[in-house]
Amino acid sequence: MTSISLTAAATGKADAVVVGVYATETAKGAKGVALAPGAEAVDAAYGGSLRKALDLLGAAGSEGELTKLPAQGDVKAAVILAVGLGKEPAKGEGPGTDALRRAAAVAARSLTGKGKAVFALPAADADQAGAVATGVLLGAYAYQGLKAPKKDAKGPLAEAVVASSGAKQAAVKRAVERAGTVSGAVNLARDLINTPPSHLYPKTFAERVQTEVKDAGIAALTVEVLDEKALAKGGYGGIMGIGQGSAKPPRLVRLAYRHPKAKKHLALVGKGITFDTGGISLKPSNAMDTMKSDMSGAAAVFAATLAVAKEEVPVNVTAYMSLAENMPGGGAVKVSDVITMYGGKTVEIMNTDAEGRVVMADALVRASEDKPDVLLDVATLTGAQVLALDRLSAVMGNDDELRTRIVDTAKATGEEMWPMPLPEYLRETIDTQSADLSNMGSRMGGMLVAGLFLREFVGAGIPWAHLDIAGASFNDKGAYGDTPKGGTGAAVRTLVKLAEDLAAGK
Ligand code: BES
Ligand code: MN
Ligand code: ZN
Repeated sequence: MTSISLTAAATGKADAVVVGVYATETAKGAKGVALAPGAEAVDAAYGGSLRKALDLLGAAGSEGELTKLPAQGDVKAAVILAVGLGKEPAKGEGPGTDALRRAAAVAARSLTGKGKAVFALPAADADQAGAVATGVLLGAYAYQGLKAPKKDAKGPLAEAVVASSGAKQAAVKRAVERAGTVSGAVNLARDLINTPPSHLYPKTFAERVQTEVKDAGIAALTVEVLDEKALAKGGYGGIMGIGQGSAKPPRLVRLAYRHPKAKKHLALVGKGITFDTGGISLKPSNAMDTMKSDMSGAAAVFAATLAVAKEEVPVNVTAYMSLAENMPGGGAVKVSDVITMYGGKTVEIMNTDAEGRVVMADALVRASEDKPDVLLDVATLTGAQVLALDRLSAVMGNDDELRTRIVDTAKATGEEMWPMPLPEYLRETIDTQSADLSNMGSRMGGMLVAGLFLREFVGAGIPWAHLDIAGASFNDKGAYGDTPKGGTGAAVRTLVKLAEDLAAGK
């Protein structure tokens, strides 16, 4: 991963120095550009004519626009890279952290293959510096794949230096460190999602959790892995039932972080279907193209918990990763089979492609036994979610205040989530003659029906929210802003911030 550090001097030796440029407009409607704070030293070395040079090159300052200029004077970087920050903020106001993060990301991505870049963007306070550092680290990420080594292969930007000369340097340093941990967690989730299912399956996912935790060397962080024997013995019929069609047996991973000063306990549950073929309710083949990403929820709760532990946030977190491969093997669960879930409820499987809710149910019951103050689940649960909200995630739950809090927290971290209802009238559509519940209900409102199914497995009185990240988890188009192609690491930033806010008594 790209390394990150701080500097006071923006003019040091580097492959590039990145400055910010705003789009301006006079009262009479004349359009132009203005240099953003942070660019002063670079502009001085340019003889004070950097803005004019950008103007002549046709720069407009629109968000993410990149303009390259040769360096001059005291600037020891090879080139100056101007990145658009969009509309100039009102006098006395800084740029929004969203625009800053996205611009830093676009610039960092364009510097793929380079050794070192200085980011002389607005970074006078902790919020701004954190946004720049986050953008750099998220934008520089690209999955390297499993390829034969090539001499001219271009890795991510090796070294990023954030230039900041504001008054509050201690707070700025802390913000950059935190950005490093949180962005590292997002990139870990991305790596897991991008890893092919030949390499990442329940057993290897569980092993990866164990090695990451060992490498972190945090005593307050412990892992417990239930393998297929322990799952069968423990009565985890949902996870076992979905896993039984695969030659690769399922796992339930429990990752616990405990802080001596914690006043709140957050439980997380993640969907970890390492590949979703649909089972015997087989998907059409092109619908499987992105189904290695069906473990994005598990990746998110794992990575977020690791970040919370690394940051020593004073809160307790228990994360469950429900891991299985949904395959149509000879032993696979069939349509109209009835399975007994952890906790004793029975479920008739009327569509083996609605597997996520089944593996999540076991883990929700188990997580409820820990008596958490808040229970959140994260899952790539329904195609209906993608149809409704595309790349925004959906938030449902049994507590409107919690749902609002999650949507607001997501916004503050630069993630996009939207509240969705759990309409009572749809509940009866998952009733069935043969069991307590059917895993299939009304097709209309399919995302909401899945949420209603999960609600049945949440312990009484526990505030719970369900994040359907089906559309947000994987980007099968080109990179944009701080989002790469492939696994996105959706929900990690929101989960970390929620844990921090809970710890802070918010
Ligand atoms: N993993 C899918 C949902 C999904 C679809 C995630 C597209 C990301 C992109 C899930 O297991 C699934 O197959 N859901 C079915 C449920 C249906 C059979 C009730 C769906 O949404 O079609
Ligand atoms: Mn499915
Ligand atoms: Zn699935």
